[in-house]
Amino acid sequence: MTDTTATTTRPWLDVALPVEERIDLLMAEMTLAEKVGQTHQVANIDPEADAETIRAGRISSSLYASGATGGNERDEGVLVGSIDAAQRHAVEGSRLGVPLLFGRDVIHGHRTVAPIPLGLAASFDPDIAERVGEVAAREAAVEGVAWTFAPMVDISEEPRWGRVAESLGETPVLSGRLAASLVRGFQGSDPSDLDRIAACAKHFAGYGLAAGGRDYDTVSVGENTLRNLHLRPFKAAVDAGVMTVMAAFNDVDGTPMHAHEHLVRGVLKNEWGFDGVVVADWNGIGQIVFQGVAADSREAAALAIRAGVDLDMVSGAYLAHLEELVESGDVELALVDDAVRRVLRLKFRLGLFERPYAARPGATNAPTPESREVALRAAQAAHVLVKNDGVLPLDRDSGTVLLSGPFVDDGEALLGTWTLDGRGEDVVSPGSALKARLGDRVEVSDGRFSDRTLQQSRRAERTVLLLGEHPSRSGEANSVTDIGLPHGQLDVLRAVARLGKPVVAVVYTGRPLDLGEVLDLAAAVVVVWHPGVEAGTALASVLLGDVEPHGRLPMTFPLSTGHIPTSTHQRPTGRLIRADVDHEEGRYLDALTYPRLPFGLGLSYTTVDYAAPTVSTSTIPTDGSLTLTVTVANSGERPCREVVQLYVRDPVAQVTRPLVELSDWALVDLAPGQSREVTFEVHAEQFAYTGRDLTARIDEGEVVLLTGPDSARLQPVTITVRNDS
Ligand code: BGC
Repeated sequence: MTDTTATTTRPWLDVALPVEERIDLLMAEMTLAEKVGQTHQVANIDPEADAETIRAGRISSSLYASGATGGNERDEGVLVGSIDAAQRHAVEGSRLGVPLLFGRDVIHGHRTVAPIPLGLAASFDPDIAERVGEVAAREAAVEGVAWTFAPMVDISEEPRWGRVAESLGETPVLSGRLAASLVRGFQGSDPSDLDRIAACAKHFAGYGLAAGGRDYDTVSVGENTLRNLHLRPFKAAVDAGVMTVMAAFNDVDGTPMHAHEHLVRGVLKNEWGFDGVVVADWNGIGQIVFQGVAADSREAAALAIRAGVDLDMVSGAYLAHLEELVESGDVELALVDDAVRRVLRLKFRLGLFERPYAARPGATNAPTPESREVALRAAQAAHVLVKNDGVLPLDRDSGTVLLSGPFVDDGEALLGTWTLDGRGEDVVSPGSALKARLGDRVEVSDGRFSDRTLQQSRRAERTVLLLGEHPSRSGEANSVTDIGLPHGQLDVLRAVARLGKPVVAVVYTGRPLDLGEVLDLAAAVVVVWHPGVEAGTALASVLLGDVEPHGRLPMTFPLSTGHIPTSTHQRPTGRLIRADVDHEEGRYLDALTYPRLPFGLGLSYTTVDYAAPTVSTSTIPTDGSLTLTVTVANSGERPCREVVQLYVRDPVAQVTRPLVELSDWALVDLAPGQSREVTFEVHAEQFAYTGRDLTARIDEGEVVLLTGPDSARLQPVTITVRNDS
């Protein structure tokens, strides 16, 4: 119910009015200084030190605050427990009472940490992604967090780049669909709900193309490739209602994204109609100066506000210069108004004017059986079996197992990169989980490999080696020049393999690694990324066969570092690239060009046979659709969850198009011996692409639809698209 006294003096508090009208009423009262205050985001808020600035309406948001109530303890320099105290200054102490907006990086779970996003992408499961977003939102909201800087949707085909760990993989359709699910999970249908928070699609745009995989590096890409590839998951997130988008650190073809008027204001805001907030990345506006495109922060502020960046993350350039820039006539007031309107729209839609305070007596964000169940399902779905000569699943009734490697008991390492709030003690470690399941049949060696490991391995019938990267080797600012296993791990694998008993290699990683020798030496290989709090439980359930492995690779694994980049986006050249002619026509003198493990690959403990696809009609109009059917049969003795994949190839277009591109997929459960007809509704708009004139088009002519278990084992059916009009 609306408080009439309050709405007399502050009419924008009237919830009966449409949001845009409430914004008009509020903005009509705001001074320019107060407006500029709404474009300023600080890192931490200190309710005491910042009291005056907040009361003056000169802070809009903070990005690292956490904790609704409580004292001002410092946790690694960040104030916790300060949210409601700071909010009180804004709501009750400032002239207009505009609430603060508290953001935080809640990237793959808050307290209940789920797999890193790349692992979540391996699930190919939009439903589990939505559940993960939902749990994260609920836990973060309890802390007073109203906004997360996720999902990251940068198309990732560069394994040297550490941030691929935070991404949803290399393809626009998988990335876009999972991003939409995460947005729904975070925001729900009504983001003002107590348990929901605003999401942020980041980093707009092209960040995944950082030169050489070096984080923050420059990007050289044409607009056609941007539109046909890199912008698509952002569009999917915008279509799903994402409330904010973050600008990227990189330039695109010489223009820093924080100054990129064409892409940010032009494409994102005007062409796509995005009415949410564009937030800068950390000091992204200040960095325009370092990028050499502005002489000083005043000029940087002018470029950024013109480009359409609404909220300045920590640089302070807007707070320092926007007023003067408007007063001097160098920046139009309308540009500032547009930014302020968007920030206020976000705050109104989040319900912050009605419910500014976060404290919920008794509420906790500690993991619950329900939140753990979601994390477990997600972690299980992230396990990708890439080789199995039959050693898996480990037979529960016989044989001793040695579990060894750096991750056996390291809880924190299994949380993965970007986990501000996860706790190592919440993690079920592989050692404890396998011990709980196998008792005396498993020997858990300490984390360090040594000659003792070999003695233990000699005694055991099977050895499970936990290999791979610590999360500090992936994520932001953690790129590498060599995607091989960390130093020394291959030596151990070689030594253990020489003992002649089957070795299972479990690979923890934030990126595609060069697994060549691992695949040669190990009897089975499972890629598990960094799986989160249920790491051990998930691993035990997959190794022992309680759950059938059903993850699929969301990025191509190259043959070696020298093969980067390699991905499904490969476009045809004037010389065919085909396995059978690779020797003659190949691109390298010293190696073949094929990936080690193709996109979409993932085995199960059974065998699945694919029939050739058939279509309901072989000709469709440009606005039509058809049904494609493919029969899949479980020819083995265990059940499975198959990820039936549909790819598209457009052989003749205005521009070169990918040799194959993932277009759709279906998760299909098959009992032993069962066969099922899987159908896909295929719409001609799935063949749309951006042509030479940078507009979307659907061409007449042939299109090849391909189905199979991964991007390298596909069977085609050709159809024709014709223009009826
Ligand atoms: C990262 C963003 C992140 C931000 C705030 C930046 O360095 O690029 O992804 O959201 O920091 O923590």
